[in-house]
Amino acid sequence: MKPKRILSAVIAFAISVTALTSCGSTSHPDLYAYDEDAPSLYEAFSQWFKVGTAMNTSDLVEGSEEMEILIKQYNVFTLENESKPDAMHPSEDVYNFDALDKLVEFANEYDKTVRGHVLVWHSQCPDWFFYDDDGNTVSADVLVERMKEHITTIVSHYKGEVDVWDVVNETLGDNGGLRDSMWYQIIGDYDGDGDKYDYIEIAFTTAHEADPDARLIINDYNLEWSEDRTITMYMMVKSMLEEGIPIDGIGLQMHIDIDFDVETCKNNVEILMKLKEIDPDFVIEITELDLSCFSWSDQSTEVELTDEFVEMFDSLYSDIFEMFIEFSEAGYLDSVVMWGYNDGSTWLNSYPVSGRTNHPLLIDEDYKLKSAYWSLIDLAQAKSS
Ligand code: G3I
Repeated sequence: MKPKRILSAVIAFAISVTALTSCGSTSHPDLYAYDEDAPSLYEAFSQWFKVGTAMNTSDLVEGSEEMEILIKQYNVFTLENESKPDAMHPSEDVYNFDALDKLVEFANEYDKTVRGHVLVWHSQCPDWFFYDDDGNTVSADVLVERMKEHITTIVSHYKGEVDVWDVVNETLGDNGGLRDSMWYQIIGDYDGDGDKYDYIEIAFTTAHEADPDARLIINDYNLEWSEDRTITMYMMVKSMLEEGIPIDGIGLQMHIDIDFDVETCKNNVEILMKLKEIDPDFVIEITELDLSCFSWSDQSTEVELTDEFVEMFDSLYSDIFEMFIEFSEAGYLDSVVMWGYNDGSTWLNSYPVSGRTNHPLLIDEDYKLKSAYWSLIDLAQAKSS
């Protein structure tokens, strides 16, 4: 055992004895996420849903604290950047399977689930898809063939190994309606039926042909608070499901902040879950959860973690997971994935304000369990008793 671990095990023991003897105390042991005595987040919620995280293959070093945290705390994994089109298919004839192969190998060894993120997206997608050798935009036929080849090659490679795919990501624009991406512009109304969802339809149909057992998700942001985006997504998916397009669920990214409103989210999820009238197995997944300590319009780089702030933050996390339990009990949800597992490496330390120190996750930058983590463990215990 590493010295840091021996120390924390001793502290944990001492604190748990203190907690037991100090009647009514809600204090929790001061533990690292990899400690043997630490609870497991995914085990705590296993009766309702899986709990996962985004990560990088550099975390998968046998015996490292990072890998021990992943094994202990989560049972669903997705690569933060290494399975995006620019990483997996940087030029027409080059596929890089190494990173996702490594995650699949890890998942098989430790009995975990893999989410593939992402097949079709406007961002982190190389230009070669959209242009010919002379720099001219390719035709709809060429782009459809390139997209089919891309999806078929990747999904077939992982048939039976990657359980869930984000087939298309962020199809909605910021100003309502479909995003005006190159996929949308070039492929357009390919089948001439009047709608312009065709690149999405072809993507899902192709992925389903390559692995009929994989769960296929359409993933997007701000669905948890914007009713306009929710209704646009609902109408689009409804129309595609009615045409028989094999979409299994909608991913709510849930990059949220301290102004998050649980009731608005519940209302929007109820709208989306009307899709169960068409497909009773239709689900939502929470795909990229993090809870920024800053309101969206706040430009500051630091937040003061006063007792009052931390209490508010922890109780919001607890309310959010209580909402997830409700979704699970209603048959809506079986997977919650966090966008990262520690505050030290979250993308929110550089977005939308560079040089910011954010604290949006459940494990701190030193890999200590935060009080927000314990509020979730308490919630799971209270709900299961
Ligand atoms: O790897 C290079 C490094 O070599 C270079 O020195 C450095 C300088 O900027 O950049 C590094 O690449 C960065 C990459 O993350 C890896 O850290 C990119 O600049 C940066 O843009 C990229 O950001 C990622 C972002 O997607 C890009 O859109 C974030 O890590 C990743 O968390 C984020 O994830 C997205 C989901 O895929 C979709 N939903 C939103 C979510 C958050 O934006």
